[in-house]
Amino acid sequence: MTAQLEYPDPQESDALLSIQGLWKVFGPKPARVPHHPELAALSREDLYRRTGCTAAVRDLSFDVAPGEVFVVMGLSGSGKSTLVRCLTRLVEPTAGRLIFEGEDLRAADERRLRTLRRSKFSMVFQHFGLLPHRKVIDNVSYGLEVRGEGKADRKRRAQEVIDLVGLRGNENLYPEQLSGGMQQRVGLARALANDPDVLLFDEPFSALDPLIRREMQTEVVRLHREVGKTMVFITHDLSEALKLGDRILLMRDGAAVQFGTGDELVGAPADDYVREFVRDVPRADVLTLRWIARRPRDGEPLDGPELGPDVLVREATRLVLESDRPVKVVSAGQLLGVIGDEEILAVVADS
Ligand SMILES: Nc1ncnc2c1ncn2[C@@H]1O[C@H](COP(=O)(O)OP(=O)(O)OP(=O)(O)O)[C@@H](O)[C@H]1O
Ligand SMILES: [Mg+2]
Repeated sequence: MTAQLEYPDPQESDALLSIQGLWKVFGPKPARVPHHPELAALSREDLYRRTGCTAAVRDLSFDVAPGEVFVVMGLSGSGKSTLVRCLTRLVEPTAGRLIFEGEDLRAADERRLRTLRRSKFSMVFQHFGLLPHRKVIDNVSYGLEVRGEGKADRKRRAQEVIDLVGLRGNENLYPEQLSGGMQQRVGLARALANDPDVLLFDEPFSALDPLIRREMQTEVVRLHREVGKTMVFITHDLSEALKLGDRILLMRDGAAVQFGTGDELVGAPADDYVREFVRDVPRADVLTLRWIARRPRDGEPLDGPELGPDVLVREATRLVLESDRPVKVVSAGQLLGVIGDEEILAVVADS
C-alpha cells in the first residue's frame, strides 16, 4: 500500500525554501513508514511499539519566505533539531521534498551539498562549537579559509562581521577568555562571515542566563534589520519565539500543531496543547485590537477615537480607559468593531 503524495510545482512558488511532506523516521526500515497509511497514522508511541521506529519529523509542509524569521517551537523531543538538520541534509530525510531557490535539495550529490552548506546556509548551535586554539578573528574567518579565500579578504570580512556583532576589540582573545554571551556573538559572526542566504539557529541562546539571553535576542532582531537575512530559528521558549518570529510553527511529536503569527497563536490557539503553551504570555503585549473588537451595541455612540487593528492592546489601554466613548477599530475607512473598558480589562487583567 503506497500513499500517493502530490506536491505543488516549486517553480510556481516564491518561497526561498519549501518543505513538502517531510518525514524523518529513525529505526529499522524507516522508509516503509511514510508511505504506509496505517503506520503513518500511528501515534509516536504506537509506531515505536509496532515497528521500533521513531518518527522525529512527520509530514511537515511549509514555505519560508525570503527575508522572514521563521520560528520552530516545541517541547523537548518534538523534533526541532531533526527538522533543522534535515534542511541541509545533515540528517537525511526519509521522505518528502526540500526545494531551495527552485533546486531540489534531495537530488543534490555530496559535492553540491558541501558547496551549498558553505555558501548558502550557516548554522548557529546551542553549544557554540568554537575552535579553542584559535583567536576570535580566526574562528570567525574559519569558513572563509575552508572556502579558499585569500588572507587579506578573510581578514577584512572577519573584521566587518566582528564589528557588526559588537565584538570589536576582542579579535585577539581566545574563546575561553570570553563570557558565554560573547562566545555566542563569535558564533553569530562566524555564521554571518560566509554571507549565507539562510541562517539556521538551533536554540542558540538556551545555555545563556536570562539577562544575556534577552540581550542576544535583541541583537538578532537588530542584525535581522541590518542584514535582512532569512532565518530559521529553533527555540522552546515562547517569549523568544514571539520576540523574533514573523511566523511560528508549533510542533508536537514531530508533527505540526499550528502555524501562525504570535498573535494568532495566542488569540486563536488550535487546541489545548497550544493553549497550554501560550497560557503564561502577557496577552496584552501580543494581542492586537483586531482580536478583541466587538460589534457595536444598539444605540452605542460611534463618535469615539479611532485606532488601527494592528495596535497592541497594551498600547491602546490608556486611550480606551480614558475615553468615555467606545474606541473604534478602523481599517481603510471601514469600521471593524469597537472596544470599551470591559474588552480591554479582560485582556489586561489576564496579563
Ligand atoms: N539519531 C537518532 N536516532 C534515533 N532517534 C533519534 C535520533 N535523533 C533524534 N531522535 C529522536 O527523535 C525525536 C526528536 O528529537 P530532536 O532532537 O529532534 O528533538 P528536539 O525538539 O530538538 O528536542 P530538544 O528540545 O530536547 O533539543 C526524539 O524522540 C529523539 O529521541
Ligand atoms: Mg534540539
